[in-house]
Amino acid sequence: MGELTSQQIVDLSLRYTLYDWQAQKAAKPIPVATAKGSTFSTPDGKRYLDFNSQLMGMNIGHGDPRVIDAIKRQAEELAYISPFMATEVRARLGQKLAELMPGDLDKSFFTLGGAEANENAIRMARMVTGRHKIVSRYRSYHGATFATITLTGDPRRWANEPGMPGVVHVLDPYHGPERQADDAETALAYLEETFELEGPETIAAFILEPVTGTNGILIPPDGYMQGVRELCTRYGILLIADEVMTGFGRTGEWFAVNHWGVVPDLMTMAKGLTSSYLPLGAVGISPKVYEPFDEKVYYGGLTYNSHPLALATALAAIRVIEEDGLVERSRKLGEVMRGHHDELLDKHPSVGLVRNIGLFGIIELVRNRDTMEPMAPFNGTSDEMKAVAKALDEHGLYTFVRWHTIMTNPPLCITEEELAEGFAIIDEALEIADRAVG
Ligand SMILES: Cc1ncc(COP(=O)(O)O)c(C=O)c1O
Repeated sequence: MGELTSQQIVDLSLRYTLYDWQAQKAAKPIPVATAKGSTFSTPDGKRYLDFNSQLMGMNIGHGDPRVIDAIKRQAEELAYISPFMATEVRARLGQKLAELMPGDLDKSFFTLGGAEANENAIRMARMVTGRHKIVSRYRSYHGATFATITLTGDPRRWANEPGMPGVVHVLDPYHGPERQADDAETALAYLEETFELEGPETIAAFILEPVTGTNGILIPPDGYMQGVRELCTRYGILLIADEVMTGFGRTGEWFAVNHWGVVPDLMTMAKGLTSSYLPLGAVGISPKVYEPFDEKVYYGGLTYNSHPLALATALAAIRVIEEDGLVERSRKLGEVMRGHHDELLDKHPSVGLVRNIGLFGIIELVRNRDTMEPMAPFNGTSDEMKAVAKALDEHGLYTFVRWHTIMTNPPLCITEEELAEGFAIIDEALEIADRAVG
């Protein structure tokens, strides 16, 4: 490796591989050679501060030798064995997750990533309840497989329709910068009405991101998650918490549901589970859901279920979170992030809303603070947002600039100095957006 120039890497990657979620002619991948901690570098030595943990998954940061060594050791010992076997890593990771997961969730089913975890969670819910409908929310992302892109409420679903039958979308409390959010009581009343109108006895599960990720770091109003739990229990609907993005310390708790003391019936995980060092997802299952499978066949399986290399990676990544106190660190640095967000809100007229929970944060840009008109339309962009994104890139800050928002989701190992460095770059780039404020 290291023989191709940056230009060759980009040209050959574009020529011979297909990029996600964009017209190929619009793809402008950054050539990356190495990564360490909260930074990554191009082959030409340009350094980027990673303010999005790649896809919100490098929770422990890049290039941790403890995880790399664990991968090497496992590769030498046992790289692959069929999921019908039992292995020490499977025994240990299953037990570890049972310890970490909330409430009575104490069994796991391993997959290759988040979408497959959600696929299996809804399959379990349907088999166990004998009901077929799944309720999910509009402002959500649950994956890009056939079923999970149907669950997904955001515009990535549109081109994939008609998708899986039996999916019903509901509104969540948040309605964008202009209308902002309902209180818990109002949002729960709409949810209950939807359950009633659909016929609760036809609904197997309600799946939601406890704190919504790509659709805007949406933190539910207090009481909402508890109310959802109560409604699901009342109507015999299983509650699936999609913790693919929020798990493993991202929000300042091991799992986001812990903020509200809510125990779901099923919980899906990926990303932070291995800190993205290798692909792995998991479904955390409560006895209510797995006990029926003591007698009934679970009609689901994967060649790479419980892949030893991925499981060893997860064990090592979880150990790093524990050793380095990264859950507490996320909570503590979340306070520091709040300070930076508030400063930007004070200083820049284009900053309409800021919010974060742990190191899971977002800045919403607006054209006018009275009307709260967003700096780019729903599912669109604008010249100003493009210029802001360009300025961040030029100054070596990598993050998601989506619609009218800038995400702030660095690795949990980021230092206070690096956090300040990233926010200084955002501060400067916001001058561009300020000029558009009318
Ligand atoms: C909340 C959530 N669920 C599911 C997924 C899908 O995970 P994967 O891309 O590993 O299939 C994602 C990915 O971004 C996600 O953010």
